[in-house]
Amino acid sequence: MSEKIRVLIDEAQVDLRIREIGEQISMDYAGKKVHLICVLKGGVFFLCELAKRITVPVTLDFMSVSSYGAGTSSSGVVKIVKDLDESLEGKDVLVVEDIIDSGRTLSYLIEILKKRRPNSIRLCTLLDKPERRVVDNVRVDYCGFHIPDEFVVGYGLDYAQQYRNLPYIGVVETEEREQRSVENH
Ligand code: IMP
Ligand code: MG
Repeated sequence: MSEKIRVLIDEAQVDLRIREIGEQISMDYAGKKVHLICVLKGGVFFLCELAKRITVPVTLDFMSVSSYGAGTSSSGVVKIVKDLDESLEGKDVLVVEDIIDSGRTLSYLIEILKKRRPNSIRLCTLLDKPERRVVDNVRVDYCGFHIPDEFVVGYGLDYAQQYRNLPYIGVVETEEREQRSVENH
């Protein structure tokens, strides 16, 4: 199956928005340090660009999780594949994600991280699909863009591990998807 990528948010828009979020975070954390946690692999492109725009002292740590679940929908039960290297105790933690879809992964992850006694914990995501949310306990503190319910790639997001390196956000249009939308009309 071949797929085409339609640009949804171009590179200049993404860069500008990350700059704005970086400024906001720098103001909100004035006089403090912020400990950024990147959820691999999708969050890594956003984290790097965002960290460069933050002017308060920044430390970084990485974790990788996989969600047990059938097919493309996450079950919300998260397995930690790679844990953080450092303790969170007393730190002002900001979790940096690529996208929040159902919210199940983040809901579970935030509960795990809260038990590690950070001073504070907030959530920053590049993209949010609010229409898709099935949990009500995920509070997004910083969001790049609200997007419609479409499958997107680029800026860390993948389709079968591809397209993470695109410098913009695009929508995957497979022949099957195009066919379906033709049938619906
Ligand atoms: P959630 O538990 O449903 O919120 O799952 C969120 C995870 O699903 C994200 O961290 C992504 O890895 C993946 N995901 C959700 N929507 C997309 C998309 O449009 N493109 C690529 N990955 C996505
Ligand atoms: Mg992710």
